[in-house]
Amino acid sequence: MSHPPDQVSWHPASWHARTAGQQPLYADPAAVERVIADLSALPPLVVSWEVEELKKQIALAQQGKAFLLQGGDCAESFAECESDRIARKLKILLQISVVLLHGLKKPVIRVGRMAGQYAKPRSADTETIDGVTLPSYRGDLVNRQGFTVQDREPDPRLMIEGYQRAALTLNFVRSLVDGGFADLHHPEYWDVDFVASSPYESQYRNIVQSIRDSLDFFESISGQQVHRTRRIDFYTSHEGLHLLYEQAQTRFIERHKRWYNLSTHFPWIGMRTANPDGAHVEYFRGIANPLAVKVGAGMTAEWLQDLIGTLNPTNEPGRLTLIHRFGAKDIEARLPPLIEAARATGSPILWVCDPMHGNTETTASGLKTRRFDNILSEVEAAFRVHRNMGSYLGGVHFELTGDDVTECIGGARGLEEADLARAYRSQVDPRLNYEQALELAIRVAGGQSEEGFAR
Ligand code: PEP
Ligand code: CO
Repeated sequence: MSHPPDQVSWHPASWHARTAGQQPLYADPAAVERVIADLSALPPLVVSWEVEELKKQIALAQQGKAFLLQGGDCAESFAECESDRIARKLKILLQISVVLLHGLKKPVIRVGRMAGQYAKPRSADTETIDGVTLPSYRGDLVNRQGFTVQDREPDPRLMIEGYQRAALTLNFVRSLVDGGFADLHHPEYWDVDFVASSPYESQYRNIVQSIRDSLDFFESISGQQVHRTRRIDFYTSHEGLHLLYEQAQTRFIERHKRWYNLSTHFPWIGMRTANPDGAHVEYFRGIANPLAVKVGAGMTAEWLQDLIGTLNPTNEPGRLTLIHRFGAKDIEARLPPLIEAARATGSPILWVCDPMHGNTETTASGLKTRRFDNILSEVEAAFRVHRNMGSYLGGVHFELTGDDVTECIGGARGLEEADLARAYRSQVDPRLNYEQALELAIRVAGGQSEEGFAR
């Protein structure tokens, strides 16, 4: 099954010779060509030195010296490219990162599922409502959510709009971060209006105070500012699903003599498109970015080894992250064989737990939801399994929002199935709301820290 690394025959469009799952069917190929030409000429969203810097940090996390936090919406929408929403998402990610830093005593690498998370894999190509069958909604990068022929027709110009919205989002995030918003000395910048009503408010405040005290202590004895914590890097990621969009933003960087996907720092291959012979793996093998692959039920040891051999043939540090998502019930049985299989390849791996996608269920009224207890228990199991096998869980991957939605069941406030209808806004997967996300971080980090977190 596997293909020897062959950089000579790879080019940003070499994936066209393979079977590409989950791609839209555009009616007008000439319009697609024009969009790809336009996108290819526009400036990149990120630059190669940032990508290389992230790869270095991931290499440290692979050695157990750092921890990765990756989080954001299941799908971003163009309509929600708004300052308040973006700032709230950044705030909850920064708050969680501080909680993890405190509990795990490791630098935390912050990566948003943002500024480009606009394309979604679907289980069926079409959707039928009342006898009418139309193409499935594949994310704002491809078509529109409304159920009309026009809405569902894939529109190549949406790729340009996606690029623009990603640029606007990234510009705002970078300005906030550069202006000191992410400074650990000023966690009050990240307060959201409803933090005060969170059942975990006092624990969160204690953690923040204790980090402040440590910073003050260190700065007073060393007489120096703790520089690294002032301008904290923030990276972006998205599922590299829509290959034309990714291809158009792939550039050869002369200085490194390598190709980079400069639409994001850290693209990942989703579960449904991780076929070693498929177009996605072909595209990803040729770019120099750090990559992630989602792995879950059905992934065999042989398949995983095949992927690792193709995606990281030189065992480059920082290159490969595996995001496992088995569900709380299955992780204990399914993860160990994959850890063994990956170990046998010799490739450094960053293992990350996604406790969301294996724990999705549908309520009697047809809403997709996830239970807080299952999410927490999968993360706890992930730490345990890796530890028992002499491996290292080096990160978590959450679907969350800084908004006060009711999409997941449970948490300290005891959200129940009947509450879901109140503020269910996700267009795709159910997200942890602000309180649930903070609680999850506090309980995960508290469970791993030697002293625990007193309530
Ligand atoms: C996702 O991350 O939103 C997703 C679709 O995940 P997976 O590929 O793991 O199912
Ligand atoms: Co999702």
